[in-house]
Amino acid sequence: MRIIKAKDYKEMSRQGANIISAQVIMKPDCVLGLATGSSPEGIYAQLVEWYNKEDIDFSEVTTVNLDEYKGLNKENDQSYYYFMHKHLFDKVNINPDNTYLPNGIAEDPDAECVRYEKLIRSFGGADLQLLGIGRNGHIGFNEPSDSFDKAVHCVDLLESTIDANKRFFASADDVPKQAYSMGIGTILSAKKILLVASGEEKAEAVRASVCGPITPEVPGSILQLHPDVTLVADEAALSKMPK
Ligand code: GLP
Repeated sequence: MRIIKAKDYKEMSRQGANIISAQVIMKPDCVLGLATGSSPEGIYAQLVEWYNKEDIDFSEVTTVNLDEYKGLNKENDQSYYYFMHKHLFDKVNINPDNTYLPNGIAEDPDAECVRYEKLIRSFGGADLQLLGIGRNGHIGFNEPSDSFDKAVHCVDLLESTIDANKRFFASADDVPKQAYSMGIGTILSAKKILLVASGEEKAEAVRASVCGPITPEVPGSILQLHPDVTLVADEAALSKMPK
């Protein structure tokens, strides 16, 4: 795993955006695996800035998102569909028909998981998958558990995740209790992975994922088995790494 140390969130965002931008320049029709949450927000803002300067062109790019809350429709401002449109898709020249997320209100959840997994596999996996990390080490919505879920699946969110994400909702009761997520196998099918982390509260998850034993109790630890992972993290998020 390559580790790029950034001074702070802003520098992490610029470094992360650099890597995504390089991918799009080298392969304009690439498949980007995208993530939501506070961690990638600055990356999207940076990419939009470069797009406005005509330094990056998304016209041939396809995107597949990691996850989506179950039960939230596209108009819900907490859905990941809404997040992606607000922060990236509506601000650049990407073809909306080439942007994919799980359908949060699919009638048949099992069929939705199969559909989304097949879709990603039909692209041969993402060329570059962007990932944030949860405080408990989750990637996508793969929560700590006693086994790795391989394919796209529907997850029961842990209390700790509901608690961490309630800041975006009116109250913890409003946070959906379930979500669709790429599985660990889906994520690892990406040719390259870019993991970003910022802040002290991610330091333990980063340490355990990068240096700890590979275990489904720390889903991010599986990234140690992928041949091409770049971690871009700020000093606070790297503060528990061995010296
Ligand atoms: C959510 C998302 C993850 C994300 C994590 C961390 O649970 N499903 O994909 O990595 O939160 O979010 P943040 O970057 O806001 O800390």
